[in-house]
Amino acid sequence: MRLLNIESSPRGLKSASIAISNAFIEAYRQVCPEEVLVDTLNVWDENLPDFDQEAIGAKYKGVNKEPMDPAERAVWNKIQELAARFQRADRIVLGVPMWNFAYPYKLKQLIDLTCQRSMLFTYDGIEYGPLLKTPRVFVVYARGGTYAEDSPTPASRFDHQKGYIDFWLKFIGVKEVHTLVVEGTTWGGKEKGEESIARGKKKAVKLAADF
Ligand SMILES: Cc1cc2nc3c(=O)[nH]c(=O)nc-3n(C[C@H](O)[C@H](O)[C@H](O)COP(=O)(O)O)c2cc1C
Repeated sequence: MRLLNIESSPRGLKSASIAISNAFIEAYRQVCPEEVLVDTLNVWDENLPDFDQEAIGAKYKGVNKEPMDPAERAVWNKIQELAARFQRADRIVLGVPMWNFAYPYKLKQLIDLTCQRSMLFTYDGIEYGPLLKTPRVFVVYARGGTYAEDSPTPASRFDHQKGYIDFWLKFIGVKEVHTLVVEGTTWGGKEKGEESIARGKKKAVKLAADF
């Protein structure tokens, strides 16, 4: 069982999303009948290439099967290598911090690099089709603040984090997206934050039983 563990927080041991993802993975190891091989991809440590002129040149040459120069070839190889980590995954665990009501730009960089035609999806000029065979993904959304509908920051207006990520995972072919939203990790003070993270870990452990 290959599990791709995508971390998109740069905060290491201080990160709520990483701590909760790790609790989930440990619980999943206990219930999974097979050995779980975890491939951890931290978007901050991965040295992701910029999606610059070379990468865009490589993308179009890749699609049109035209010869690439060495710089384009290098970036295209890295893109293919990253996409292969998704393609190999039987399960994906994804930790997403809320940044400015959305998600960190490094996670979007990973998405822009890997979400390529004929790698994670198909397009025939009319319709898109999914290519990923991963049946289930667990996503933990960590938020410093809270977003109750009757608060000054209702999720219906302020949450631009969950909608796109859930959509994208389905778009590339994931059948079931299991999610856990953990709010109040930082902005309510240290004690409340720790309580919220501890509750999040407990919920994650329960959710791992059905993954
Ligand atoms: C650059 C930045 C922007 C943030 N923006 C928001 C935000 O818009 N809303 C919010 O609730 N929390 C925000 N936070 C707080 C984080 O969501 C919170 O600390 C969360 O626990 C981050 O996940 P992590 O602990 O896994 O790093 C922000 C934090 C940073 C560093």
